[in-house]
Amino acid sequence: MSAPSMTLFHNPASPYVRKVRVLLHETGQQSRVALQLSQLSPVHPDAALNLDNPLGKIPALRLADGTVIHDSRVILDYLDHQHVGNPRIPRDGPARWRRLTLASMADGILDAAVLVRYELALRAPEKHWEQWLEAQRDKMRRALAAFEAQAIAELASHFDVAAISLACALGYLDFRHPDLQWRTANPQLAAWYAQVSQRESMRETEPPQ
Ligand code: BEZ
Repeated sequence: MSAPSMTLFHNPASPYVRKVRVLLHETGQQSRVALQLSQLSPVHPDAALNLDNPLGKIPALRLADGTVIHDSRVILDYLDHQHVGNPRIPRDGPARWRRLTLASMADGILDAAVLVRYELALRAPEKHWEQWLEAQRDKMRRALAAFEAQAIAELASHFDVAAISLACALGYLDFRHPDLQWRTANPQLAAWYAQVSQRESMRETEPPQ
């Protein structure tokens, strides 16, 4: 087996990194990427990472020629062009826009969930902005309800960019926001997630306990 030609700046708790690692597994490309741990938070940046990604965000992927690409959506698109199996992002036509829109909705759940996590974990309790927190939770609930009502059959049809993004978002809700109890209002999504979370790609990228 040849040495990895790419480096992924990562943290095992990051759901955005998890999307990339799941796609690497699903497309048989794990051995092409070395992992470089980045310990960072919005208030404690990683100086080494900042040199490669001025935004100081993970995931960032250093390619064989030294180029660094980010964010997770760009990395997924890049990696999906580096394997010979079925594309995980449809290349064109209405399917492309539909699946990318579903992936964007899943990423929106993640964005809200991560913002809530930062507010609760990093800010002093007396500074928590409850109205804003509730608005973020409402955003998550609305998007979850839309998946439940409109997208179960589509999700079940392929484990592609939309399904990977949502599976990682749901995994993050379990990891950081079990209080949200997302399964109660979304039983079909819960059944779908129970299945996909058993995939090797999902089991091998579970966040730390
Ligand atoms: C977390 O620990 O929740 C986290 C880590 C990295 C990126 C986003 C979230």
